[in-house]
Amino acid sequence: MNTEKEIKRITTKALSLLKKKGIKITALTAYDFITAKLIDEAGIDIILVGDSLSNVFQGNETTLPVTMDEMIYHTKAVAKAVDRAMVVVDLPFMSYQLSVDEGFRNAGRIMKETSAGGVKLEGGERVAETVRKITQAGIPVMGHIGLTPQSIHQFGSYRERGRNKEEAEEILNDSKIMEEAGAFAIVLEKIPASLAKKISESLTIPAIGIGAGMHCDGQILVTPDMLGLNLEFHPRFVRHYAKLAEKINSAVKKYVEDVKNKHFPDESESY
Ligand code: KIV
Repeated sequence: MNTEKEIKRITTKALSLLKKKGIKITALTAYDFITAKLIDEAGIDIILVGDSLSNVFQGNETTLPVTMDEMIYHTKAVAKAVDRAMVVVDLPFMSYQLSVDEGFRNAGRIMKETSAGGVKLEGGERVAETVRKITQAGIPVMGHIGLTPQSIHQFGSYRERGRNKEEAEEILNDSKIMEEAGAFAIVLEKIPASLAKKISESLTIPAIGIGAGMHCDGQILVTPDMLGLNLEFHPRFVRHYAKLAEKINSAVKKYVEDVKNKHFPDESESY
């Protein structure tokens, strides 16, 4: 039986089945129609409209500035392109920190105004009540612990989390709380592989790693990073599956040269 081929549309149930069968889950980000279409056609399981769009799409230094309206705008475009993957959207900074009701309302708004399949939010114990309320309304929630970029000003740097015993215990505890609160999966960002292994093995929900080693139930990367659109950004956990920055640069240079030299368009490209 080929479980992956049999799954026509990725749902929370399908992801749980993949974990049970020991089949790794794949996830990437997308912020626009064409990228979402390409990665969906290539067989990705989860497409995250991440608040990383603040960095890689809007050019901001952190994920903090992106708004609910902007997340909704991008998610609508992504969801239109996707046939198989599960589309998950980040609840942006300050859309759920104010109160449980505010987070609940914003999760509901995203689900109503886009065709997403679920939302993601950062934090463990401190967002457990919000996760409980959102999931009780039938909205799938993905947790996100470890390095949580919305708290960057509290952390002070993007260094890995969970290196010391206290932090590791807190992250392990947060992962259990997220599962108990009803999350269908959890992202583990930039934590030691040994801690991610312990968490993945102790949870029944899938743990999706980014910079969290090989033992997670799945992996997620930011698509422009793994496609090598910005070769200067190369942290240890990013593998460049392509170097699109170089390809785009030489294609554009060739186009400029052809237009300047009157080699484009030729007769076959004219009406
Ligand atoms: O916003 C994002 O892209 C994310 C991933 C890094 C997991 O949260």
